[in-house]
Amino acid sequence: MTLLNRKLVENLMQRRTFYVTTPIYYPSGNPHIGHAYCTVAADVISKYKKLRGFDVMFLTGTDEHGQKIEIVAKENNMDPKTYVDLISLRFKKLWRVLGITNDRFIRTTNDFHKKAVQRIFIRLYEKGDIYKGLYKGWYCTPCESFWTENQLVSSKCPDCSRDVHWSEEEAYFFKLSKYLGDILSLYDKNPNFVQPESRKNEMKAFIENGLQDICVSRTNFSWGINVPFDKNHVIYVWLDALTNYITALGYASGDDSDFKKFWPASVHFVGKEIVRFHAIIWPAILMALDLPVPKCIHGHGWWLSDDSSKMSKSKGNTVDPFELCSYYGSDAVRYFLLREVPFGSDGVFSHEALLKRFNSDLANDLGNLLSRCLGMIEKYFSGTLLEDQEILESDYDLINMAKSLYLKIEKDMDAFQFSSALSKIWKLVSRCNKYIEETKPWDLAKDGKNARLSAVLYNVCESLRIISISIFSFMPKSALQIQDCLGLQKKSIDWKNIGIWGILKKNSTVAKGEALFPRIEF
Ligand code: MSP
Repeated sequence: MTLLNRKLVENLMQRRTFYVTTPIYYPSGNPHIGHAYCTVAADVISKYKKLRGFDVMFLTGTDEHGQKIEIVAKENNMDPKTYVDLISLRFKKLWRVLGITNDRFIRTTNDFHKKAVQRIFIRLYEKGDIYKGLYKGWYCTPCESFWTENQLVSSKCPDCSRDVHWSEEEAYFFKLSKYLGDILSLYDKNPNFVQPESRKNEMKAFIENGLQDICVSRTNFSWGINVPFDKNHVIYVWLDALTNYITALGYASGDDSDFKKFWPASVHFVGKEIVRFHAIIWPAILMALDLPVPKCIHGHGWWLSDDSSKMSKSKGNTVDPFELCSYYGSDAVRYFLLREVPFGSDGVFSHEALLKRFNSDLANDLGNLLSRCLGMIEKYFSGTLLEDQEILESDYDLINMAKSLYLKIEKDMDAFQFSSALSKIWKLVSRCNKYIEETKPWDLAKDGKNARLSAVLYNVCESLRIISISIFSFMPKSALQIQDCLGLQKKSIDWKNIGIWGILKKNSTVAKGEALFPRIEF
């Protein structure tokens, strides 16, 4: 290989990595549907990128330190470590139940993480970007956030509207103010750094009046990582938490080969209320460490309960994702979460809406299409499609639509427009159902037009094969079930096959099997 070719190959290999993260969740109670939402989205993009040949790193985990955890563990008569051990297991279990295949799960109580955070703290201190001062301000314990008088709304925390308390103590500060200019120019040079656009505007408005240095240590509780050279101080939970995205890759903890390979992150998926930490504080910390910043921060919306308030553990109005999965199945839950509401917007969760999506999109449109088509092949041809097929010009409307589906999905997926991608897939599902109505296979069978009948059913099977690849990242179990019914191997779920017509052998045998989404009556 010439030097130039080797460089090209190396470049290509480098470009094909993809690093996606979720926030690390507070294990202050059982996981709820709001947590599942972001992890499902990250799983979908991770499966999709893997399908497209990227070398993917998908990280999630739990954020286990801080006063809030200390308090909740005490309420449960446990020491904090026993408590977070228990709850982080619930998160891991939920990811299994939901079919999530994360590559790594970080816990901020992991030894390697604690040591790396201390090294990072020392590095910033030695550089002069962390200094000791006196902290005076309002503190919101549930949000682990400090506020100035002006930032409070009706004397309450501007994020969660709960009580704040006055705090005055010696503390370490991070020189956030020093990075104002760099953050502003980051936004200017990378218009897609914060997505969607509305969140970017919120961030710009937030920093318009300048940035103040932030307090990065506490002395009023002990459940956290100590400042290595000042044991009375515990490192502020957000500094501890944000750095997980690099410590999980081995940064500042010995083997940093994954860090070199995957950093900067392709996207951090986060909820809208924590965009500020990720889009302002996190890049500033990285700049202070002389590291590249992530390529994109995507702030998704919230699932609200019927009364339009945010679902949250503290309000006790959450929906249990374990229960949902056992009732509807994990694929249906995954589908609903990403289909019902555009990723950046808020949505109201209701069982009625989920049931409606289940019976209409999944059972009626997709499930029936599969069982109807394969049922006819079993009935008319004993399950095997004929070699002899009569294709008509009019078939190309469906064939071309199926062949070009991937182009539309790729655009949506690359922009994290999951709902839009699914609606395009469902247009093809509907087109298949319409095609069956138009071609009337039952009449073709009655008239003995077997070559035409075989072509019609083959066209629907091929479309179903393409549909199964397109839904794999959203509904992996259902995609595999469709492939199985079509007599295909798991490995045929490959993005290379999605735009090709005729992968299914003409004399192949299919089997209806069990219903994909049996209708739920109530
Ligand atoms: N531990 C911090 C994140 C640190 S990341 C370096 C945290 N944890 S959290 O458990 O409170 O929230 C984690 C994520 O769950 C946030 O992105 C939040 O937006 C999301 N959700 C919690 N409730 C939600 C809904 N009701 N709807 C959608 N997502 C919401 O913040």
